[in-house]
Parts: sequence; structure tokens; C-alpha cells
Amino acid sequence: NDKPRIFSGIQPSADSLHIGNYIGALQQWESMQDDYDAIFCIVDLHAITVPQDPKALRDATRTLAVQYIAAGIDPARSTMFVQSQVPAHAQLAWILNGITGFGEAGRMTQFKDKSARNGADAASVGLFTYPVLMAADILLYDTELVPVGDDQKQHVELARDLAQRFNSRFGETFVVPKPQIQKETARIYDLQIPTAKMSKSAATDSGIVWMLDEPAVIAKKIRSAVTDTGREVRFDRGEKPGVSNLLAILSAFRGVPIATLEAEYEGRGYGDFKRDVADAVVDAFGPIRERTLELQADPAEVDRILTTSAQRAHDLASAKLAQVHEAVGL
Ligand code: ADP
Ligand code: NA
Repeated sequence: NDKPRIFSGIQPSADSLHIGNYIGALQQWESMQDDYDAIFCIVDLHAITVPQDPKALRDATRTLAVQYIAAGIDPARSTMFVQSQVPAHAQLAWILNGITGFGEAGRMTQFKDKSARNGADAASVGLFTYPVLMAADILLYDTELVPVGDDQKQHVELARDLAQRFNSRFGETFVVPKPQIQKETARIYDLQIPTAKMSKSAATDSGIVWMLDEPAVIAKKIRSAVTDTGREVRFDRGEKPGVSNLLAILSAFRGVPIATLEAEYEGRGYGDFKRDVADAVVDAFGPIRERTLELQADPAEVDRILTTSAQRAHDLASAKLAQVHEAVGL
């Protein structure tokens, strides 16, 4: 396989993905499978950097795999596996910890945000060193491109820095990866607080459209989305964050530019517009939900797919780790 390699992952930190994960990650991944040698990981080791329930984690891991497949990730074309099934991730992360500066890690804004929110003592050392594990995930596979949201840009830059540093200290070993940052409209905001990123860990559920929500629930959440007192369907994140968010969602689901939608809804009210957004989301998520429920009824088949795929990941990762051990004198 001589196509360029891409790698990306999602944490199994909730029972369902949301519309932000779908637009920001899965939809894009799905479209890249033909042109790239794609590796999609379920990063369960990242999920244990915050307190977790063992049974919930195991269930969320399998459910996430099922959602990858239901959303169009094809295990016959792409490698799709659970991170903890390939021990080289944790092993390389330890080695990379040895060449990461303490101050350098401390400058990662996601850790600063998360620890500021919960207090430094609530944040684990694992959460602190999470970007180093992410660098290991990427570097193990000679990844050329990492398709991520802009929230992950700094972490991919750390992976680049570590690859270059390792190569210059120990000899050419790693491919230096590049982030592929999606366009601004790929970032989806909470429907109730349209200035806050939609996140699995949000405090309330009403602003999040889950991929596995029932169609009627999706429609209700979108109808109740916060907009503004105006009546113009126009993209303006500053003045009209709610409407802009819905425009971004409709644009992604219909595959048409925002400007086309603005023209289409000129002179029409928010009611029509919201109904069409809800229809577009339900049309896409309905079949994904059905397929998820079908696959969930056959956990043995899902485990078989994951085990087969993990073998390829294991082979690639072990070869790279052996090269690393040789280079550093282990
Ligand atoms: P969350 O922030 O909901 O916990 P993750 O951190 O597991 O999600 O992110 C998984 C993927 O989904 C990443 O590629 C991330 O950039 C993308 N993503 C997460 N939230 C959003 C969002 N609101 N809009 C667009 N993409 C998102
Ligand atoms: Na996140």
C-alpha cells in the first residue's frame, strides 16, 4: 500500500458520538479512505487520564467501534483498532516522555484549560502527558497527515517537534507528520450555548445532538436551538452564533456552501430553516443509528473485526518500536 498514511482517533469517553465529532472527524475520515492508507484508532488509553468506570469504558469502546463502522469507516479498506490492544503505544509514549521538556508539556493549552477547570490536584499526571501519548500514536505508523479539529493543532505540533528531535538525536526514525486542520465551519457549537464547543463532557444534554438520539429527539433539540431575535439566516459567528452554527451543520450534511444556503433562506423565517436542518440531520443519522443497533446485537462480529485490524496495527507498530529501541540503546 503506497498511499500516504493518515492516522486519527477518538476517545471512548461517552456512549455516543455527537454531531461535532461526526462533522469534525467521522465524515471527513470516511471521505479519505480511498485516497489514503487510513488508520483510525479508538484511544482508550487516553480515556483513563480522567476518572472512569471500568464497565462503562468497556461498553463505550465497543460502541465507538460500532459507530465508526455505522458511519462508513470500512474495516476492509481502513485499519480500525483499539489502542490498548497494541502495547507499543504506551511503550513509545514512555520513551518520548524522556525527550519531552517539562515546560514544553506544560504549555499545552488543553491541559491548562482542563486543569484550571478542575483544579491542579484533580488533574492526573496522565492528563499532563496525554499529548506525548498522542505523539506516540501518530509516530508509530509513519503518519504523514493527521486530520483533526483545530483544538488538536498544538498537540500535532508537539508530535512534529518530538519526531524532529528524536531524529536529530538518534538518527532518522520517524516521519514528521502534518496536521490537516479542517475549515472553520467544521467546528460545531453547543445548540444551547452556541459560543461553547459542542463536547461529550458538556454539563447538559439539551445542546448536544447525539448520533444515537432517536429522530424525534434530534428534531426537538434542533427546533429548540438558541438563535437570536432577528429573522435573517446569515452566517456571522459574532452577531448570530446560533444561526451560524445551524448553517454550518446544514452545509456539512447537504454538502453545499454556506453562501448557497443563505441565498436559499433569504426572506424565510427561522422555523422553515430549523425544520430543514432537523430533516437533514435525521436523514443522515437515522440509518447510522439503525446500523449501530444491528451491529450492537452482534458483539462477537465487532470483536472479530477489531482483532483482525489490531493485528495489522500491531505488526506496523512493533516494527517501528524495534527500530526505536535499537536507536536509543534499549
Ligand atoms: P469531545 O471534545 O467531544 O470529547 P474528542 O476530544 O474525543 O471529542 O474529539 C474527537 C474528534 O472530534 C476530534 O477530531 C475533534 O477535533 C472532533 N471534535 C470534537 N468536538 C468537536 C466539535 N464540537 N466540532 C467539530 N469537531 C469536534
Ligand atoms: Na476534545
